[in-house]
Amino acid sequence: MTTDTLHQQKILILDYGSQYTQNIARKVRESEVYCEIHPCTWTLKQILEFKPKGIILSGGPASVLAPGAPLCDRGIFESGIPILGICYGMQLITHSLGGKVDPSAHREFGRAELMIREFSHLFDDINNKSIVWMSHGDRISKLPFGLKSTAFTTNSPIAAIEDPLRKIYALQFHPEVVHTAEGKKILENFLFKICKCLRNWKIDSLAEFSLQAIKNQVKKEKVLCGLSGGVDSSVVAVLVHKAIGDHLTCIFIDNGLLRLEERDKVEKTFRDNFHINLDVVDASEQFLNRLKGVTDPEEKRKIIGNVFIEVFEKEAKRLGEDFTFLAQGTLYPDVIESVSFKGPSAVIKSHHNVGGLPEKMHLKLLEPLRELFKDEVRALGRELGMPDEIINRQPFPGPGLAIRILGEVTKERLAILQYADQIILEEVKAAGLYTKIWQAFAVLLPVKTVGVMGDARTYENVIAIRAVNSTDGMTADWVHLPYDLLGKLSNRIINEVQGVNRVVYDISSKPPSTIEWE
Ligand code: XMP
Repeated sequence: MTTDTLHQQKILILDYGSQYTQNIARKVRESEVYCEIHPCTWTLKQILEFKPKGIILSGGPASVLAPGAPLCDRGIFESGIPILGICYGMQLITHSLGGKVDPSAHREFGRAELMIREFSHLFDDINNKSIVWMSHGDRISKLPFGLKSTAFTTNSPIAAIEDPLRKIYALQFHPEVVHTAEGKKILENFLFKICKCLRNWKIDSLAEFSLQAIKNQVKKEKVLCGLSGGVDSSVVAVLVHKAIGDHLTCIFIDNGLLRLEERDKVEKTFRDNFHINLDVVDASEQFLNRLKGVTDPEEKRKIIGNVFIEVFEKEAKRLGEDFTFLAQGTLYPDVIESVSFKGPSAVIKSHHNVGGLPEKMHLKLLEPLRELFKDEVRALGRELGMPDEIINRQPFPGPGLAIRILGEVTKERLAILQYADQIILEEVKAAGLYTKIWQAFAVLLPVKTVGVMGDARTYENVIAIRAVNSTDGMTADWVHLPYDLLGKLSNRIINEVQGVNRVVYDISSKPPSTIEWE
């Protein structure tokens, strides 16, 4: 396959606002078919210009019966393009094609057994009584002309409908969530048996494609990249370096808020192993000076964001080269235009990002990962020969340890947190849990408590352990770390970290808490 054909076969997912829409896209891509998510407000013209091999109408929080409910251009049903409606998508198809949707007395939520009533390609090789995941209020009371019902569950007499002639299919349940046992197979039946897609979204072709795309975009120009040591910017650096070699320069800013020995590790990996032009700036004094006396979390974030931009800009000037592009690790979830039927949401935390940089420095953006989900970025990194230590890294916030030191950030408090954090990392890795947990880290609290060591009274700091599981950072559950591991962590932190005499465990989930404490 040539690199040009990589995007030739696309599935279009029209987003009606379901929390599972990204799951649909990830499942489709796991099946090695490229897809994109676009707003349900797309016009028929936009849809046809996209040239999809198939269209999936996602679920959504609205009711088709409500005034102002999001609809679709009926032209898509006459287009001959295979369509799969999921949940809201199914009600929308019914409503649009003359069937009847009624509010149900009971909202159906949770597992159900799927009973297949009639032959359907969607259910090829699917077992009768397979478990499916339901989450809906409205239900269909009259089928539209030309569509037949192919499956039911105890509470949904119509759980799947189709018109194979017009290639219109719909499911009341969610095939994209893990609780639907054979959901992947059902989606694959749609992709391969109905849309006749080929499996061509493969990571080796993707690497080849990305390298060529970078070369085409950059030509002979110079590229600057802010390297943080996290997965995304690391993969960007290695990928762009592979494409254009020494035309890439990476700047790594040591803001003094990093994990223990982080800077050494980054230098070793990128300069020594990958032979990338790496410019390391020690700006820790500057960051710490500006943070002196600051205790408000939002103020900390703003200061760190501003100092970062100042330092980066100054360093780029000092390098004296004529840079045209700034390479950034923007991922697909950041660029999906979100549809919301709930109105604007409140700012909980102003996440630190370097969004202001390119305009300020008059640089063009190079975002080679903007079509990819995180798991695809990891696969790409592996394909490029990057070590697991980088690829499997847990997320680390831009403002670093500053938002895990409650209250003022000082050198002494940073040292305490770095050691405690290091112990957690070592022990979680030794227990084989590092890659199974979204994040595990230490937080230094702004209180001192009384303790006793030997025969003496102590009055020292408290460390909180935080361990959470999450799929995207938006919601999170606290992890039930084994008691013996918690015991080991507490022993080691109290014995080895000077200035700590108490360890506590954070057992809050998000919401209502957040993952970071600030
Ligand atoms: P919260 O605390 O908002 O965190 O529940 C959700 C996820 O985002 C990370 N996080 C940040 N990442 N800059 C970042 O790059 C930030 O300012 C920031 N704040 C939180 C956090 O570690 C978690 O994974």
